[in-house]
Amino acid sequence: MTTKAFVIGHPIAHSRSPLIHGTWLREHGIDGTYEAIDVPPDALESFFERLRGGEFAGGNVTIPHKQAVFALCDSVDELARKIGAVNTLVARDGKVHGTNTDYLGFLGNLDAKAPSWSDCLDCALVLGAGGAARAVLVALQSRNIPIVLLNRTRGTADRLASELGPEGFTVGTLENINASAPHAGLVVNTTSIGMHGTRFDHFDISLLRPGTLVTDIVYSPLETPLLADARARGLPTVDGLGMLLHQAVPGFAAWFGVQPAVTPDLRARIEATL
Ligand code: ATR
Repeated sequence: MTTKAFVIGHPIAHSRSPLIHGTWLREHGIDGTYEAIDVPPDALESFFERLRGGEFAGGNVTIPHKQAVFALCDSVDELARKIGAVNTLVARDGKVHGTNTDYLGFLGNLDAKAPSWSDCLDCALVLGAGGAARAVLVALQSRNIPIVLLNRTRGTADRLASELGPEGFTVGTLENINASAPHAGLVVNTTSIGMHGTRFDHFDISLLRPGTLVTDIVYSPLETPLLADARARGLPTVDGLGMLLHQAVPGFAAWFGVQPAVTPDLRARIEATL
């Protein structure tokens, strides 16, 4: 029987997930489908009934449903609760389990691109404390890496650090960026400013130590101003596209029973759509 999976969102046309999973399905010759389904908020509950009925093995969840599905899942794991969002559903025996694979995407991407990234890391400098920061922070915590969390709005960073920590966190505003820069072995931008082609106002990148790894979780554009500046200084950089690809791996493995690989060919296919 054909195994079916999906990504639900509203709107959904922009999603790259069908291309990623479709590539893997073909590569492995699996009798399966992965389709984008537009589910408006008022149709989410009835979609879950379909899911419990056994039509699908599971799927991905994107904007605006990542929080709403908490109440509809039969179980949600601790990680998804910590991150505050469910992005992957697995349906089995009439029940739906929710999880979050973004933190594995973040770690898988760095592990693949810069295998020794967490060796001797004094601290990671995380810029931004919004929804997207949460998976990154949980990932860094899972490797016991001390975190300096800087955000434009101090109160938001304070709340997030006390919820996820508070041990292991040092909190400040983006005004502190130059004081923190020389201590960081890793810089992660989780704010949306790269999407708009803008820079952090006062950030003097020359204060980063040689070898500091600079990453941005934004993948459109692929090279944000932060990554371009870091690269111009000779610092190693990792863009956000790999995180998107790696977060898809655990879902595919759960639904189709095969561990897929993030290959240069897959990356090139997705890159061509950006
Ligand atoms: P997401 O869920 O994508 O993370 P979000 O929750 O709106 O989106 O968070 C966006 C993050 O980018 C926040 O950390 C935000 O800072 P504030 O908490 O001060 O709003 C940050 N951000 C957005 N625009 C920014 C800008 N121009 N300069 C600095 N930080 C910015």
